[in-house]
Amino acid sequence: MPHEDRIKELLGRMTTREKLGQLQQLSWAWDTGPGASAGTAQAETAAREGLLGSVLNVFGAASGNALQRIAVEESRLGIPLVFGLDVIHGYWTTFPIPLAQAAAFDPAVAEADGATSAREARSNGVHWTFSPMIDVTREPRWGRIAESFGEDPYLTARYAAAKICGYEGHDLGSPDRIAACAKHFAAYGGAEGGRDYNTVDVSEQRLRNTYLPPFQAAADAGVATFMASFNTVSGVPAHGNAHLLTGILKQQWDFGGVVVSDWAGVHELLVHGYAADAADAGRLALTSGVDMEMVSTSLAEHGEELLSAGHITQQRLDDAVARVLRLKFRLGLFDRPYVDEGAAVAAPTASARSAAREAAARCMVLLKNDAAALPLDLKASTIAVIGPFADSGDLLGAWVLPDAQRRFPSGTVVEALQAAAPQARIRHARGVEAEGDARDGIAEAVAAARAADAVVVVVGEPPALSGEAATRSGLGLPGAQEELIAAVAATGKPFTVVLVAGRPLTIGGWLDSAAAVVMAWHPGIEAGRAIADVLTGAVNPGGKLPVTFPRSAGQVPVYYNRENTGRPYDPAQPDVKYVSKYVDLADGPQFPFGHGLSYTTFATGEPQLSRDRIAASALRAGATVDVTVAVRNTGSRAGDEVVQLYVHDLVASIVQPVRRLRGFHRITLARGESTVVRFTLAAADLGFWTNDPTGEFVVEPGAVDVYAGTSSSAEGRSRLMIT
Ligand code: BGC
Repeated sequence: MPHEDRIKELLGRMTTREKLGQLQQLSWAWDTGPGASAGTAQAETAAREGLLGSVLNVFGAASGNALQRIAVEESRLGIPLVFGLDVIHGYWTTFPIPLAQAAAFDPAVAEADGATSAREARSNGVHWTFSPMIDVTREPRWGRIAESFGEDPYLTARYAAAKICGYEGHDLGSPDRIAACAKHFAAYGGAEGGRDYNTVDVSEQRLRNTYLPPFQAAADAGVATFMASFNTVSGVPAHGNAHLLTGILKQQWDFGGVVVSDWAGVHELLVHGYAADAADAGRLALTSGVDMEMVSTSLAEHGEELLSAGHITQQRLDDAVARVLRLKFRLGLFDRPYVDEGAAVAAPTASARSAAREAAARCMVLLKNDAAALPLDLKASTIAVIGPFADSGDLLGAWVLPDAQRRFPSGTVVEALQAAAPQARIRHARGVEAEGDARDGIAEAVAAARAADAVVVVVGEPPALSGEAATRSGLGLPGAQEELIAAVAATGKPFTVVLVAGRPLTIGGWLDSAAAVVMAWHPGIEAGRAIADVLTGAVNPGGKLPVTFPRSAGQVPVYYNRENTGRPYDPAQPDVKYVSKYVDLADGPQFPFGHGLSYTTFATGEPQLSRDRIAASALRAGATVDVTVAVRNTGSRAGDEVVQLYVHDLVASIVQPVRRLRGFHRITLARGESTVVRFTLAAADLGFWTNDPTGEFVVEPGAVDVYAGTSSSAEGRSRLMIT
């Protein structure tokens, strides 16, 4: 029988309580909050009574099977449970954090992570991941920037589609695929002050042009589920936001999957001051478009009374239940509710590790490399490897399974460099800790630097300072790490800094003193080897910043795709007073979006347009403009360049960003090799959303500047006239 018929048939047999049960997701063993001991028992009882749809944080194939057996064999209708887990950048094989993956400017990296994660997770009984997180954000203070793909809607949209494809493949029922979840819907990355869970107030055009494109791409890519976000959006919490969850997502985008709440997000409608009581919270969430309630129990407890009082409709209840059942059918759970415990992947395989290593090296960004300080001279007889992260296994990143953290920590830089340069003497000195005031180790680090032929300093922030609920007010290196750098610099020895972090850091204070700087992010399980690959030149770095690096935290938000003010700063006239600038800070970012160097050099030509005029009506009817850019490797070794395409609509009915990324290609060129990179511009690239709440996308006549080059400061330009 086709799924839809089976769903109808089941709906016909379910009681109202059983239907409400399908909308309930409870947390299992990892629930360590108040009442934790009750968590597992509560899930088992609810499963037995047929009053539970899903469980999150069940860990291990055997635990999942045991719980599933209760639902399938002991409940009245035997409807299987769907198990969810945050598999964000790896299950056993921890890939680089998502922000790092975005720096590869190669969505295939996210697809590889998704596919590897899906294989490992599904074999362990996980059906559904709460990933990808596709919140565009301009807030480096926000810890969750680590889980995001950065500040750009287009880049994030491309990564969203790739990661979903990696998780879901073509058939959710296959034993190596899982359902994905586009989260957090929506605008969570706009939290005021970067403070987690904070208020977001956005215009409709900002919402549609900046925050929603990745979600629309996720819906187009067939993502199975969406998650509502904790924040308010212009005064209305996302969990009670019918405009977002129903108007845009389910009606305009025709999304047929499940909308799950975030953790107790339905209950939090009360805390926001939006719902009067738990019943009201359940009503608001369901009628706005939430289909499944994570952890809090407003609907399960009050749904019957809401239905009989006419506060929720039978039709909407059945629609939500049908969505949940459809997910379970698509996952094949009615036919194969259990996993083969003998086939559970128990450790990273060699090929998964090598994919993670390749991904991590691909994500690294060479921020600076004076006088070709890198790659390291492997003939150096002594290499000092200094800093709190030089010998650390804590480079996995912000969202890792506790068991993966314990069993499969990251490899270290010290051991990987020793393996890459077996003849060299590696001298390691921590110098300082990642956090805290102790400075006693600095003298030893300085001595190691003095005695070495090459010096590498590995500093940054620990994963514990990034991720959820890890907002920082400052963006410098924590603890006394900047003093460590200053002490090393005072030796006069040229040194390389490797930065490990989940966010952009402010590095202006010591940047000039370092010969080279590599942004390694939190690279995952193969951190050590991947960093060594880049330092030694085994891999020529080609990553680019997916987010602007500010000069100071006080300058945040600073992002490339800003609107022009009426009084922009003009670098040619730095002393003009009444312009938009800081009086105590140089203008512009430390490093712009899209920046990243290589051990070779490239020359890119001006963008060539296939035509310089096109009618708006033709664009709307599907016509396109081709853009070609010539690129040549002008240096002495093979390397990767990311050719980037930006547009600027000069005059529009809504002031347009000074640049918008609309294409990128990461290419590899041998020494002396050249190629021509091709892009296509369509209506979607040249138009924008207006403030119309019903959604209006316009392509207006006028001039559009098309820029191509190797960062968001690219100067190569051509002009397109839209008539
Ligand atoms: C986070 C979500 C996550 C959920 C379940 C929440 O606190 O915001 O991103 O999926 O917890 O762990």
